[in-house]
Amino acid sequence: MSFLTRRKPIEAEMRTDGGLKRTLGWPHLMALGVGAIIGTGIYTLTGVAAGLAGPAVILSFAVAGAVCAGAALCYAEMASLSPQAGSAYAYSYSTLGEGIAWVIGWSLILEYTLVCSAVSVGWSGYASGLIRQAAWGVPEIFLNKGVVDLPAMVIALAVTGMLLVGTRESATVNFILVCIKLAALAAFVAFTLPSFDAAHFHPFAPFGYGAHELAGGATGKKFGVMGAAAIIFFAFYGFDAISTAAEEAKNPKRDLTIGIIGSMAFCTLIYMVIAACALGAVPFGLFSKSPEPLAFVLKQLGKPGAAAIIAGAAVVAMPTVIMVFMFGQSRVFFAMARDGLLPRALAGVNRRGVPAAVTILTGVVAAVFAGLAPLDEIASLANAGTLAAFIATAFAVMVLRRRAPDLARPFRTPAVWLIAPGAVLGCLYLFTSLQTKTMLFFLGWNAVGVVVYLLYGRVKSRMAEAV
Ligand code: ALA
Repeated sequence: MSFLTRRKPIEAEMRTDGGLKRTLGWPHLMALGVGAIIGTGIYTLTGVAAGLAGPAVILSFAVAGAVCAGAALCYAEMASLSPQAGSAYAYSYSTLGEGIAWVIGWSLILEYTLVCSAVSVGWSGYASGLIRQAAWGVPEIFLNKGVVDLPAMVIALAVTGMLLVGTRESATVNFILVCIKLAALAAFVAFTLPSFDAAHFHPFAPFGYGAHELAGGATGKKFGVMGAAAIIFFAFYGFDAISTAAEEAKNPKRDLTIGIIGSMAFCTLIYMVIAACALGAVPFGLFSKSPEPLAFVLKQLGKPGAAAIIAGAAVVAMPTVIMVFMFGQSRVFFAMARDGLLPRALAGVNRRGVPAAVTILTGVVAAVFAGLAPLDEIASLANAGTLAAFIATAFAVMVLRRRAPDLARPFRTPAVWLIAPGAVLGCLYLFTSLQTKTMLFFLGWNAVGVVVYLLYGRVKSRMAEAV
């Protein structure tokens, strides 16, 4: 069984000089993080989560943000050691062994594909609202919440197409889109604050704190502050974008810390303010079922123009999140194929330098899920994959601190023996707060993965050749 524990030497993952210029300061890194993080989570899942926790969803945001920040610091340490493709998969390979690395890589594939689906569905919630408002006569069955969510499929495939022709997000475009996203959220606050009614916060936690199914509830949904935290966790990740830029940071130690902690704290604060404004303006029971909750709140307040502006901003800015995660997918595939665990043909690049096969595969699968599956279930499953990757990364940091204490670490997780175990426990707790169905599906996915590994990766691994 030694194949399960064989490790790539960490030195193989470390790059002495990648030739990239150190041009990014913390404001760039924060813009990168905020650009990848803000998407369907705050724009759409706020409603879903409020339906599970009531006004106490504000605490769900705080819990999910804190867990994510702990994991993000561990990411930063590993990324600064080995700033290469594959993130949590690569960190696991060099510290925890091939077996765990495979499970994490396989989980990341699930995560990245489903994040693309979930963000497409969230995008479609707002796009469908605009299509209805414009009275274009598109049949309801082809809109969000209909039978087939056509706009969601279209945006997933459109981003795939853009990637195939070699579109890359530039720092300037990212900065503009971040400004649009933030301006829309600021406008939401400005429009809703005058209608703030504290009475909407009573009772504060109608579904309690721990995650639990409702008595006689057939949906399998888990309610309570933690049930909502397990879903809204979706809103916080995407910060890999910062850790992969470790090589380009001017001052990795300082700028990565500020970039990661800064964007997590910033997003947590904004999210809590947005949730509080939505809750204060309209009772949560009203907007929690809307596929475009922020626009819905404004429409309830009699501001359809403002609702259209927010929806327009969401429609313009959200596709970048899909783009970041589709890139992420191709990097994980690339790293796994380079190590021999997946067929190299899948990760090959075309003449434009685009990994066409994996991009098309991801885009089509993401579009199918986006067209047919409910948002909360897709997001939960994406969270399961992410939580597994976070747990592995936090473990990897601890293992490496013990095994190679003297390794030069450009970035060190502060109070590591508090933060890393805290991140592991927090992630585990969020994982068990997911729907039972989600946990079972995740285990099923990994059971298939183990079979694929035993039949293919175990034999084809570069590490097997090396023996
Ligand atoms: N954090 C990203 C979003 O909320 C995935 O869309």
